[in-house]
Amino acid sequence: MKIAFFSTQLYDKTSFDHTNAAYGFELVYNDMPLDEQTAQLIRPGTDAVCVFVNDKISDKVIAVLAEKGVKIIALRCAGFNNVNIEAAKNAGIQVCRVPSYSPEAVAEHAVAMILTLNRKTHKAYSRVREQNFSLNGLMGFNLHGKTIGVVGTGNIGKAFCRIMLGFGCRVVAFDLVANKEMEALGVEYLPLIEVLKADIISLHCPLNEQTHHLINAYTLDMMKKGTMLINTSRGGLIDTRAVIGALKTGQLSYLGIDVYEQEEKLFFRDLSGSIITDDDIQRLMSFPNVLITAHQAFFTAEALSQIAITTLNNVQQLIKNGKLDTQAALLV
Ligand code: NAI
Repeated sequence: MKIAFFSTQLYDKTSFDHTNAAYGFELVYNDMPLDEQTAQLIRPGTDAVCVFVNDKISDKVIAVLAEKGVKIIALRCAGFNNVNIEAAKNAGIQVCRVPSYSPEAVAEHAVAMILTLNRKTHKAYSRVREQNFSLNGLMGFNLHGKTIGVVGTGNIGKAFCRIMLGFGCRVVAFDLVANKEMEALGVEYLPLIEVLKADIISLHCPLNEQTHHLINAYTLDMMKKGTMLINTSRGGLIDTRAVIGALKTGQLSYLGIDVYEQEEKLFFRDLSGSIITDDDIQRLMSFPNVLITAHQAFFTAEALSQIAITTLNNVQQLIKNGKLDTQAALLV
């Protein structure tokens, strides 16, 4: 049984090869993303393709996959906004994902971004190495007692709420459904408009038609002047131009993003010798109060291992039984 991987990085090969010892699939690794052209490279007898966050699985790609006899699209990630689910359903291709591999990995990265932006440890590190021991410009604020607004309290949002409660913060949240376990821990569910008034806002909802550009000029205006905004979910939740505007006026005082709307042209590559033509990311990188990481929130040893185990297990179960034990992992 053959699985063709796309957008493969060295760390993917390492963890999948290690895990595959227990499964015995034939794994074919491709570095390039899956698109209409690269789909043509899929060899006969390939049962499944394994893709990541920036592989755009459009109806046209799905048509090529169907033609090649591919039966399964296995996402090695949680989010699935990049797959045309309807087209897969119509083509009779099953789609599975890794609904929860290590929510703590992403939640902890969101917290790392908050602490870095607040206490400026990235600047202090460089400064001290230059033998500059001055504290000017490094002042932060106590997290204890501040209000944290969380949008989306699923697996990652819940892990994030727990950490922030531990810091002694007041945690307010917006979700389509309030979570009883979180309420018992002290999280207050409020309408979105109220949650946007928090000192720090962290986004943990999926990207879909309802949440696209959830943060826009209008919602930015509802925030307190000086808010910190963190996005470790998907770039499309934020209208980048509106956020740049809010950073210029000081409406937003800090921005931490691990995801970016146009990231597929940039992230997971070394472009240090290239000219970046995306003016929006260049503008964002020019702000001293903006921290950008290149979609690394998931990137822990524990998460990679769990991703490989769940993905190979999903493919094995779908090939053997046509269904999965974990319903949340099966999208079609
Ligand atoms: P999840 O499915 O467990 O939770 C999502 C939560 O968002 C649910 O509680 C849901 O009810 C809520 N929600 C849905 N629509 C909403 C709306 N319109 N407003 C407010 N809440 C809404 O998902 P999980 O595992 O917590 O992941 C969240 C997102 O994080 C994923 O969709 C993915 O895009 C992103 N992610 C990012 C990673 C990274 O490395 N940066 C890694 C893994 C996931």
